[in-house]
Amino acid sequence: MAITFDEGRGIFTLTTKTSTYQMMADSFGYLLHLYYGAKTEGFTDWGLTFADRGFSGSPYDLGRNRTYSLDALPQEFPVQGTGDYRTPLLVVRDSEGTYGADLHYHSHEITEGKYSLSGLPAVYANPDEEAQTLSITLKNDRLGLNVKLLYGVIPSKDIITRSVIVSNEGSKPFTVQKLCSSCLDFTHGDFDLITFYGRHTFERQYQRQKLRHGIFSIGSRRGMSSHQYSPLVILAGHGATESHGRCWGMEFVYSGGFCAEVEHDQYRQTRVIMGLAQDKFSYELAPGEEITGPEVIMTFSNEGLGKLSHNLHACIRENICRGKFKASPRPVVLNTWEALYFNFDGKKILEVAESAKELGVDMLVLDDGWFMKRNDDFRALGDWKADEEKLGCTLSELANSVKSIGLDFGIWVEPEMISEDSNLYREHKDWAMIIPGEKPVLGRNQLVLDLSRKDVREYIFDAMCSILNQGVTYLKWDYNRSIAELYSHEGSNGKLAYKYILGLYEILERITSEYPDVLIEGCAGGGGRFDAGMMYYTPQIWCSDNTDALDRLSIHYGTSFGYPMSAIVAHVSTCPNHQTGRITPLNTRYITSMTGAFGYELDPLKLSDDERREISAQIQQYKQDREIITHGLYYRLSKPENIHRYCAWEYVSNDGSKALINVVIPQNHGNMPVIYVTPRGLTSGAFYRDIETGKILPSDALMDSGFPLEMPKSDYEAFTIRLERV
Ligand code: GLA
Repeated sequence: MAITFDEGRGIFTLTTKTSTYQMMADSFGYLLHLYYGAKTEGFTDWGLTFADRGFSGSPYDLGRNRTYSLDALPQEFPVQGTGDYRTPLLVVRDSEGTYGADLHYHSHEITEGKYSLSGLPAVYANPDEEAQTLSITLKNDRLGLNVKLLYGVIPSKDIITRSVIVSNEGSKPFTVQKLCSSCLDFTHGDFDLITFYGRHTFERQYQRQKLRHGIFSIGSRRGMSSHQYSPLVILAGHGATESHGRCWGMEFVYSGGFCAEVEHDQYRQTRVIMGLAQDKFSYELAPGEEITGPEVIMTFSNEGLGKLSHNLHACIRENICRGKFKASPRPVVLNTWEALYFNFDGKKILEVAESAKELGVDMLVLDDGWFMKRNDDFRALGDWKADEEKLGCTLSELANSVKSIGLDFGIWVEPEMISEDSNLYREHKDWAMIIPGEKPVLGRNQLVLDLSRKDVREYIFDAMCSILNQGVTYLKWDYNRSIAELYSHEGSNGKLAYKYILGLYEILERITSEYPDVLIEGCAGGGGRFDAGMMYYTPQIWCSDNTDALDRLSIHYGTSFGYPMSAIVAHVSTCPNHQTGRITPLNTRYITSMTGAFGYELDPLKLSDDERREISAQIQQYKQDREIITHGLYYRLSKPENIHRYCAWEYVSNDGSKALINVVIPQNHGNMPVIYVTPRGLTSGAFYRDIETGKILPSDALMDSGFPLEMPKSDYEAFTIRLERV
């Protein structure tokens, strides 16, 4: 049983393969957190301590007992106004404007299977997987506030999920001002906090810092999960490394604004919470209404960060991603963006397609510029009709021609956006989110459509269907600005940020169920909406608008902590690189791009014969390695502080029989010390053959002290080592 309840003690125990999570509904009706750590027998309520804590309030029901304060006790769902002054998960304001509500345990239910959430993406259990759901109801009688805490347990994956449904069962409205779905309270411990920051073309950079007193927060106010902070936090014991030590991860299954706060309090306790962004959020619940807090995936590893990532990778790959491409090999694409930008016609596209086909590419993706005079980024978003003058044919004719060359045909869209210079805007000005009387904020010359409106969602759905009915089997679903104004002509603006994302999910759900074989690749100016919520609909996401082989090293490094390689899209582009001007060898560009889902973003007609030969060989090789890359176990072999010396990563097949190790050495130096790379995840006590040299190597020594790399002959050199168990 993944979930048990001890009636006498009021203790709930959630058990996974290697972890235990415990909480207790105590005799005062408070839901206290007891434990989340290595798997254990028995109960852990002995870990609670009680003391008179000056200036930390005590619940009234305790009378003269001053040793019980919610300000000092670990909790599951701390709410503002209870004498706990730490950062809360829930803030409610009643119809008179008064804040606060005490919540008490009311009831619970344990059911088979993993819960799902209406209108929101959530982890699901596969048919052969054991899974259970615990739902605990907390209530506040004054407001008629009902809080349903949902816990999902998938033991084999070492995954526990949390979500929350807040409803109004009272007779007056109240407003939810803050809503987080997940909390981890630690009564003691010295931790490091790992988060991922960035910017457009430089996403998910790794940051590890010692936790100090105060509140550290990351989040997004941009209406999207954002380039700036990834909705993932990892708490790690000070000494935790890739292969040792305790660490906890919290990852949000949501694509809109979020907040994650980590508070190290007066008693050196630590609270980690994650939920919806508070910015411009004010969600009134009329009697009978409810709101669902998006899901948080939690995992614990006492085998270091590598195992923590493996848990998150497997969960997203197998329990979040859906559709045909959850398991099917991802096509090798040739994308026209960096190859042609807006400068093409139908003839050129077909020439590129023919040339790409000869190289071994599977799919041609026609990027921006194919519709309604879209020859720059000032116009036409919303008018999803092919520019037949430019293409010289209809979209379906173009799709057929590409297919007759032997390639699948994909296309770029940006369905949530509208250009001021578009027929759609001229007809439906009120569909754009603009505050009346204010000048709109432009982002890449465009405005955002109001996806909370049904008519807008219908329009987008119909427009996408008409594209997909013309022989298009892949959509690159882009999103190229942040939301600045939250205004809907249909009102309820404090709800809009959330309703926008529900609207987006509704459209994506309809499209993915109508076209289950279509591959949708997510994108938001590269990796601005690279999150587990999008991965429920788009199993792969363009990781960054930066295609520079060197910059991609740290982008992929950071991304790999919370997201599987199958979700990371990377393309080989031309040199000098369009973002950095850097010139790197084609082999290095290939090695950094064959991180996950792979392709090219260059004009094949401009390649030399040597380059064409090399690229053909790369594509053949990638297709041989694709399975281990997209479904194997991924290991980070180098430390971020050493990335300037070398960056190494490894894929091991699930049965341990094969390993693929990639290394990039950014800089060569005179008379350099030899670089040793130490693989992990090989079968202990076995021997492996280095496929290239034929050498037979003992796995334990390899994993203990590593193997020497060849000396580089210039900057930016890259190596691949393939090992096979003998
Ligand atoms: C965004 C994407 C790019 C490309 C352009 C097209 O920036 O991230 O890959 O599709 O839009 O305008």
